[in-house]
Amino acid sequence: MRNDNKPSGKLAIQIVAMPCDTNANGDIFGGWLVSHMDMAAGVEARLRAKSRAVTVAIDSLRFIKPVNVGDTVCCYADLAQVGRTSMKFNIEVWTIALDSDLTKVAEGIFSFVAIDEKGRPHPVDR
Ligand SMILES: CC(C)(COP(=O)(O)OP(=O)(O)OC[C@H]1O[C@@H](n2cnc3c(N)ncnc32)[C@H](O)[C@@H]1OP(=O)(O)O)[C@@H](O)C(=O)NCCC(=O)NCCS
Repeated sequence: MRNDNKPSGKLAIQIVAMPCDTNANGDIFGGWLVSHMDMAAGVEARLRAKSRAVTVAIDSLRFIKPVNVGDTVCCYADLAQVGRTSMKFNIEVWTIALDSDLTKVAEGIFSFVAIDEKGRPHPVDR
């Protein structure tokens, strides 16, 4: 079961949310967040596969709390499953505001496929 008190997985990327990343409400745009979740999974997929890797599916995604400008956005990746050529990562996003501790704001499941130089799937070590 997931622990909502502390992040699960490895800190793959962190970045500060900027005013240019906001939506019409003034909160951080969900698409921006998803792209960073995708990047975090991609960083870990490349390391695990020791090759290029591409997103093949996003199986679930949940936005839990809004993200504010100036928050430090931390994406944690946890390798949940390794197939022949594919890898499935649980991605959690936690934020740190200047006046608060870590808060979980989003989570999702991202699947990647290891590819060779021609873009064809290749086996990953299990
Ligand atoms: C990912 C890609 C290389 C897979 O090619 P493919 O010929 O369909 O490959 P396969 O059918 O052999 O499947 C490869 C693996 O992907 C998995 N896979 C395929 N579709 C999937 C899906 N919807 N969800 C989860 N896994 C999936 C397969 O189960 C297989 O895993 P395994 O080898 O561990 O058993 C190809 O579909 C592709 O290039 N897609 C575009 C990727 C991309 O551009 N991503 C960025 C999007 S902006």
